[in-house]
Amino acid sequence: MRTNNFPGGCIIKKVILLACCSILIFSVIANAAGGVKKKRPLPHDYGKVVLNNYSERAHMAPVVFDHWLHRSKFTCRLCHVDLAFAMKTGTTGIKASDNMKGYYCGTCHNGKMTHGSRTVFAACSKTPGDDFGRCERCHSQGKTVKKDYDFYTYTEKFPKERFGNGINWEKAEADGMIRLVDFLEGVSIKRTAMTVQKDFSLGPNVKGMREIIFSHQKHTVWNGCEVCHPEIFVGVKKGATKYSMVEIFEGKYCGVCHTDVAFPLTDCQRCHTKQVQ
Ligand code: HEC
Ligand code: HEC
Ligand code: HEC
Ligand code: HEC
Ligand code: HEC
Ligand code: HEC
Repeated sequence: MRTNNFPGGCIIKKVILLACCSILIFSVIANAAGGVKKKRPLPHDYGKVVLNNYSERAHMAPVVFDHWLHRSKFTCRLCHVDLAFAMKTGTTGIKASDNMKGYYCGTCHNGKMTHGSRTVFAACSKTPGDDFGRCERCHSQGKTVKKDYDFYTYTEKFPKERFGNGINWEKAEADGMIRLVDFLEGVSIKRTAMTVQKDFSLGPNVKGMREIIFSHQKHTVWNGCEVCHPEIFVGVKKGATKYSMVEIFEGKYCGVCHTDVAFPLTDCQRCHTKQVQ
């Protein structure tokens, strides 16, 4: 005869049930927050940004910007602090004239900068002239344009993960498979390195939900301090910023990056790692 006389069984079941419920509830919230939720993007499309504030009006195809290629070469901080790109699609309002003056994409895409052994092709000019092929490398939405970098060949040897680009970017950097440029001569300002805070755990405030270990060290590699402080987190004292998973799903706090570019929120266990005692 089977009797359930294992004393902890019931509690364990409740915890599992609670965790499952939270996942269910949160996927519903996640869907609601995203409106009509888009299909999960393919690995090479994750982090793709399409810019069309001015292009189609000027009879050019919208611009496609891929995070996967650029983040394999530069830090988030370099672009989002030194170069002043906003962290929300379309809000920077980049214009052809900005690029031609050497701002935004034109900081690097000026036909002069070298990266590795290659010269970075130039961005916009007043008229395409006979160089329309160059324009189409960026103004490529809806066109079949041959790329110099194929996602799958380029990332073949990178350590893998389940979601997002399907790549463990943190490990790829830590293992030295990619080397990130964080400083551009004449653009970035020399800063003195700040002491990096110790890793700490964040309690999810729900029984049975695993704790989160937040690593300052690992985040600073990509973001310096300024991407997060003071705009996303005030950062004066742990616990000073109050937020919930719902807000994270709405794209705030951790969700600013972990929605479209850093590994996505579907990967619950990558943040909720530590078994609650
Ligand atoms: C080479 C420059 C560059 C690098 C490096 C870069 N970004 Fe971006 N990022 C951009 C541009 C350009 C946009 C679009 C800005 C706009 O449309 O106004 C953008 C947009 C974003 C957005 C908004 C996306 C959306 O769907 O609205 C997020 C989030 C973001 N970046 C995070 C990151 C993170 C995290 C990293 C580092 C892992 C990173 N970026 C590295 C240039 C860069
Ligand atoms: C911090 C420097 C930097 C900035 C800013 C930057 N790029 Fe790039 N981009 C690069 C480098 C380096 C490459 C690789 C060039 C090469 O190896 O030929 C590249 C390559 C590209 C490619 C070619 C991809 C391929 O496979 O052929 C496109 C398209 C592109 N960038 C678009 C953009 C757009 C659009 C912006 C602005 C929204 C932008 N980039 C901003 C550095 C930058
Ligand atoms: C490195 C990427 C890149 C390349 C290469 C590039 N552009 Fe652009 N261009 C942009 C970005 C980014 C925008 C702003 C996109 C938007 O929001 O519509 C833009 C916008 C434009 C616009 C819209 C009008 C305006 O004032 O902003 C025109 C016209 C334009 N580009 C012309 C060209 C021509 C002509 C070429 C080829 C000689 C070219 N671009 C090559 C990135 C590029
Ligand atoms: C990816 C985002 C991110 C980056 C990058 C980052 N921090 Fe933080 N920081 C946080 C978060 C999250 C907290 C906790 C905030 C809270 O609970 O209110 C925090 C808290 C802090 C605190 C308060 C610590 C305590 O124990 O009370 C300090 C000081 C701090 N950060 C300094 C820095 C410095 C210096 C850098 C760069 C070397 C940096 N941070 C980079 C996200 C970040
Ligand atoms: C400014 C952008 C940004 C913000 C805000 C941010 N992250 Fe990240 N995070 C990253 C990037 C970039 C990586 C590198 C891995 C990747 O891109 O997938 C990363 C990696 C991680 C990792 C894996 C590395 C490790 O520590 O083991 C964890 C876990 C993580 N983030 C948790 C968090 C949590 C929790 C928060 C909020 C308290 C947060 N992140 C806020 C950008 C961000
Ligand atoms: C990028 C990191 C990250 C990912 C991925 C993530 N969480 Fe969280 N989660 C957090 C943080 C940080 C908190 C703590 C907020 C606080 O301070 O209370 C949290 C809190 C929670 C809580 C506690 C209640 C609340 O609203 O704060 C639940 C339940 C939860 N998460 C469920 C999930 C589920 C389910 C998933 C996967 C679908 C998930 N989380 C993915 C970072 C993450």
